[in-house]
Amino acid sequence: MFDLDLDLRNAVGLSESRDLYLLTDTNSQQYCLSEIRKTLDISAEHILCLPDGEQYKTLETVERIWDFLIKGNATRSSLLLILGGGVLCDMGGFAAATFKRGIPFVNIPTTLLAMVDASCGGKTGFDYQGLKNEIGVFYQPKSTVIYPPFLRTLPHDQLLSGYAEMLKHALIASPLELIHVLAFNIDNPDYESLAELIQRSIDIKQYIVDLDPEETGLRKSLNFGHTVGHALEEYSLSKGQKLLHGTAVMYGIVAELYLSMVKLSFPKQTMIQVVHFMLEHYPKPACACKDYEKLIEFMRHDKKNMSADVINFSLLRQVGNCRINQTAKKEEIGDALDFLFNL
Ligand code: GLY
Repeated sequence: MFDLDLDLRNAVGLSESRDLYLLTDTNSQQYCLSEIRKTLDISAEHILCLPDGEQYKTLETVERIWDFLIKGNATRSSLLLILGGGVLCDMGGFAAATFKRGIPFVNIPTTLLAMVDASCGGKTGFDYQGLKNEIGVFYQPKSTVIYPPFLRTLPHDQLLSGYAEMLKHALIASPLELIHVLAFNIDNPDYESLAELIQRSIDIKQYIVDLDPEETGLRKSLNFGHTVGHALEEYSLSKGQKLLHGTAVMYGIVAELYLSMVKLSFPKQTMIQVVHFMLEHYPKPACACKDYEKLIEFMRHDKKNMSADVINFSLLRQVGNCRINQTAKKEEIGDALDFLFNL
């Protein structure tokens, strides 16, 4: 069912005899790089391995990528392959977008989060002054190679992190998709079935991205769960605490479903189903943060906001019916956070 060799040949266009460069991270180097090198002949000097983790998603790391490309004499007809998780796809894509005003790149995601989210849609960038993806550009990959067998070596918390984005896609897409995602046994996954769910999740995202690639409207629906999720992540980052992106998004989904229920009459029963799913699979969010002022301050910097004073949410009226440009008062956000942290 999976043919990495063929997919790589198609993505790279081997007949064009490309000058290849590859970025990877320490985990992907250990578990996935040898698979790539079975097909692609890339010299060791054209491979850069970077440390993994949100704390490395910085301008300094982007500079390391630019330096690596300059040292290797990369040109606009070179091709940059990015073999890694979401952090690397975002940063590598940014380096490709800006190097010599843009060189082509191919994403080869190795985590579930990167497969269903970061590798698709062309959002590239890095964190700046403690704010997630504060600096970045839209720049589409030449193609993306999805190879689900890479997930077999992925730690379970990382698998769950990606699954939160799949849950988000299901919530904004349709009740049927939500049933499939909630019913799937993510603790002991059947990888063939997971591969089908992944493809549907990517299709949901790609459909939205194609209609609104630069997030002028509809694409904001993909930020459901992320106003609160990003704030929790930024807060954790500022405290040096580890909180995976998707876990933060899972908490954000619950808080924003609560807001959706209060403000748009989202069905309580469905919200409770999602809460049960979270409590069954993810660490409890209790006491993740009681510093609501600080969290709300982080929300003020969210890229969906159209003015500095109003915090903008994408909320759900029903499953499959997302309303963008919704606002909430401080007290309402506080109630949603109370709901989340008191579960
Ligand atoms: N992760 C949301 C988006 O790509 O728009």
